Amino acid sequence: MNMAPQIEKAISDVDQLIIGQAQELSDKLKQHRLEMFPPRALKGLREFQLAEVARFLGVTSGYLRNLSLEGKGALPQVTPSGRRSYTAEQMEEMRSFLEHNARAGTHYMRHRQGSEHLQVVAVVNFKGGSGKTTSAAHLAQHLALTGHRVLAVDLDPQASLSAIHGFQPEFDVNENETLYAAIRYDDQRRPLSEIIRPTNFPNLHLVPQDGPQTQMVAFMRSMFKNHVLTNPMLRSVAISDAAMTNQTLYEVERRQFTRATYDRAMEAMDAVNDEIGDLIHKAWGRK
Ligand SMILES: Nc1ncnc2c1ncn2[C@@H]1O[C@H](COP(=O)(O)OP(=O)(O)OP(=O)(O)O)[C@@H](O)[C@H]1O
Ligand SMILES: [Mg+2]
Repeated sequence: MNMAPQIEKAISDVDQLIIGQAQELSDKLKQHRLEMFPPRALKGLREFQLAEVARFLGVTSGYLRNLSLEGKGALPQVTPSGRRSYTAEQMEEMRSFLEHNARAGTHYMRHRQGSEHLQVVAVVNFKGGSGKTTSAAHLAQHLALTGHRVLAVDLDPQASLSAIHGFQPEFDVNENETLYAAIRYDDQRRPLSEIIRPTNFPNLHLVPQDGPQTQMVAFMRSMFKNHVLTNPMLRSVAISDAAMTNQTLYEVERRQFTRATYDRAMEAMDAVNDEIGDLIHKAWGRK
């Protein structure tokens, strides 16, 4: 292209400016995140107002207020205007107090007892962005706040449930500290109990996830055997770049992409689809 030198110079100045600003923004964001979520620091939790605590405990606000006035059970923080609030730990203390002082037949402890089985709940939907993680997080926290003991197991490669509970995979979760450590088939395997972490909610513990898809595939295969495809699809910028123009990998041209990126994506995509094609042919009784 034949650009006048002064235009070229202006463009290069703009380039420099953008690069400089991007760097600055990135540094600021990193710093902000370190301040908000210092590595290894547990995410905090707000205090709960008396009416909320009454709801989570299954008593009336009036009853809870009376207990507080009589100095019974966990004593809440009281503002000068008389508003009472409890930490989540104080709420658990109160639950235990209520249970021990309840009339026969009345129970405030909600978690499973005796021969009650461990209830597994999976939040599943084929559609992306349909609220799975949001539902799972709210359900886990609600069950914990109402006195159930909850173990949240993050199986999502995006690790958003871990992030919600203050565990940033790249900061807080090291090698062999995820679910994978407990399900791998080599000498690095660890008991699940070593992987479990407390969260900012009492009663709610978490098995974090860190990402790599291969680990999830190994896990799924160990559970579902040959009902899981052998060939994994890679996460590839070639796919997402093609999608920006509403195209698939089969529609775009190789020369529009970095060769190696395109080739890797296409190879993986073909392998997955060939495997499915073979399964279809097998279902038709073909060899
Ligand atoms: N009831 C709701 N009301 C409003 N927004 C919601 C609701 N539930 C979820 N969202 C929002 O919808 C978006 C997608 O939700 P979420 O991340 O939970 O979906 P997902 O099924 O886990 O997605 P993915 O398939 O990407 O894992 C989020 O921005 C979330 O805050
Ligand atoms: Mg999700």
